Amino acid sequence: AMNKDLEGKKILVTAGPTKEPIDPVRYITNHSSGKMGYAVAEKAAARGAQVILISGPTNLKKPIGVKIIDINTANEMYKAVLDHFEWADIVIKSAAVADYRPSFVSDNKIKKGDNDFSIQLTRNPDILMELGKRKKNNQVLVGFAAETQNILENAKKKIEKKNLDFIVANDLMKKGAGFNSDTNIATIIDKDGYIEHCEKMEKKELADKILDKAKILLEE
Ligand code: C5P
Repeated sequence: AMNKDLEGKKILVTAGPTKEPIDPVRYITNHSSGKMGYAVAEKAAARGAQVILISGPTNLKKPIGVKIIDINTANEMYKAVLDHFEWADIVIKSAAVADYRPSFVSDNKIKKGDNDFSIQLTRNPDILMELGKRKKNNQVLVGFAAETQNILENAKKKIEKKNLDFIVANDLMKKGAGFNSDTNIATIIDKDGYIEHCEKMEKKELADKILDKAKILLEE
């Protein structure tokens, strides 16, 4: 990528998992490390963009030149993302948002008993779908798909359903792809049906590829 080619562009990135509380000591989460989203935020800032990163809990170093908003739950991410959506030219939603949250959060630690115990779950809002509804012609919306099966088919459905410009799909079953890995193996699928299979590469390199494509679509 060229130097500072994203100067003047405003880019909103989400990264990491969300943490959905059960009680004061327990929560539901997933294996997302945040590495993909942090790589996108870091590269976008290095290329001159103004970047806001809305981050779930991760152990990663804060990228330089990026404004970070820390959140825990999907509902907190939803509010933070909607607050900044109109500002953004490009939105890259790499966060692994929990689809469900415990319906009731106990104020006190839940005591164990002799019997089995179940937790009722409530559907979280689909942030990306809401953005798709609000998207203006001069905004580019990028989603991720972490799948274990029917990758292309599911990605194409998601592009339509969530009104995305393109989607970055990765196969969680492949070695060197997905959670916590420094590399990823992705397929980029756009709304016109163009499919690009990327070889295994560093998440930072894939980040540049994603930004290149978003920039081209923004300028179209
Ligand atoms: O439908 P699925 O969860 O596989 O779609 C993944 C994409 O949707 C990711 O870009 C993720 O950040 C986004 N998403 C979201 N809100 C949710 C669930 C997923 O924004 N509640």
